[in-house]
Amino acid sequence: MSARVDWSSAPAGPLRGEIEVPGDKSISHRAVMLAALADGVSEIDGFLEGEDTRATAAIFRALGVRIEAPSPARRIVHGVGIGGLAPASDDLDCGNSGTAMRLLAGLLAGQAFDSRLVGDASLSRRPMRRVVDPLRAMGARIADAGDGCPPLSITGQARLRGLAHAPEVASAQVKSALLLAGLYAKGETRVAERHPTRDYTERMLAAFGWPIRYRPGVAELSGGHRLRATGMHVPGDFSSAAFFLVAASVVPGSRLLLRGVGLNPRRTGLLEVLRAMGADIREHAAREQGGERVADLEVRHAPLQGIDVPPALVPDMIDEFPALFVAAAAASGRTRVSGAAELRVKESDRIAVMASGLRALGIDVVETPDGALIEGGRCAGGEVDSAGDHRIAMAFTVAGLVASGALRIRDCANVATSFPGFAELARRAGFGLIDA
Ligand code: S3P
Repeated sequence: MSARVDWSSAPAGPLRGEIEVPGDKSISHRAVMLAALADGVSEIDGFLEGEDTRATAAIFRALGVRIEAPSPARRIVHGVGIGGLAPASDDLDCGNSGTAMRLLAGLLAGQAFDSRLVGDASLSRRPMRRVVDPLRAMGARIADAGDGCPPLSITGQARLRGLAHAPEVASAQVKSALLLAGLYAKGETRVAERHPTRDYTERMLAAFGWPIRYRPGVAELSGGHRLRATGMHVPGDFSSAAFFLVAASVVPGSRLLLRGVGLNPRRTGLLEVLRAMGADIREHAAREQGGERVADLEVRHAPLQGIDVPPALVPDMIDEFPALFVAAAAASGRTRVSGAAELRVKESDRIAVMASGLRALGIDVVETPDGALIEGGRCAGGEVDSAGDHRIAMAFTVAGLVASGALRIRDCANVATSFPGFAELARRAGFGLIDA
């Protein structure tokens, strides 16, 4: 765990210029995983140099995969083939990353050797039964700590059988864990979702040559094939761009251009919501890159109006609620978030932590079990705690831009899990970030 870091965010002038956010976290994790299991050498460009994705790469190194990092954001992965992983001599440390742990639980369930997945204090409190139960139904031998939380101990040489599963919660991590276990299973694995979630695992399996059928809400594959190495370019992470979209929307006089942002439709719910609130965000140079829609996003200041966030959009913006809460606080009128109970089991309880932080800044927020009512107003300065949650730390730097005084944000070190260069990029765009 990194040393404790506190930041100060102060009101600043308009945000201006062009920036490029780092590579997509979800895609970077999956790129390393599938490249490691492929036959041949895969080159990944635009890889996210974050602590979460580096944890995944370190785990595959420990499992015997050679991974070169010839320059930042580039990885050359020497695949070992679908059955080529070797046992690690130690626990596999997923750090803060739920994606790493849940996807690896599926992938490792099909190996011939035992492994143990561990994580940091936050990850060690996160629910794992959503993957452990269906994986057991596939024949996996996997144990949690007894309370449904990590560490996960996986016993090798299980004979996996395909499973048809409809997860209770909308979760790309659960879907992906089952599909990755399905690579090693006899017969067909089918995941049917009530609300479709991000489909990167499906798209990437297809790009690596694994036969898979998928459409929004359903993915099916069978075991017994092989993956072929391929080149990949990871687009900019929409979830990292989100902080800048909100920041430039709320700071008068701002105009920012965010280059090369991934716009997978299962990720861009916040775009829809911000536009419905009155935001001025335009897409330029829309293009396809590595099978993903990418565009440059131009965002200009515009007065925002509170809205009722449609619950159906929640899965498409599941990582964007800390940013949305700040947009709602800076908007006029009331914003209602509902149908978002999943936020309580993210890197922190994002409903509780955002609500208490905004209240400390004088914003009227009523917490509900599955969301919140946020009455827009003027944030005062003061002190808030990010609870070690990267997205909450970044969201509060945005609140600091429109606060009436300086804002101290405690516990920001974990910003490096998803966005290591955030402070520098934010300062370049015009944020008044101090000590960061
Ligand atoms: C992710 C899926 C989402 C998201 C997380 C990344 C992924 O989690 O919140 O940041 O890469 O599959 P859930 O599957 O728990 O919704």
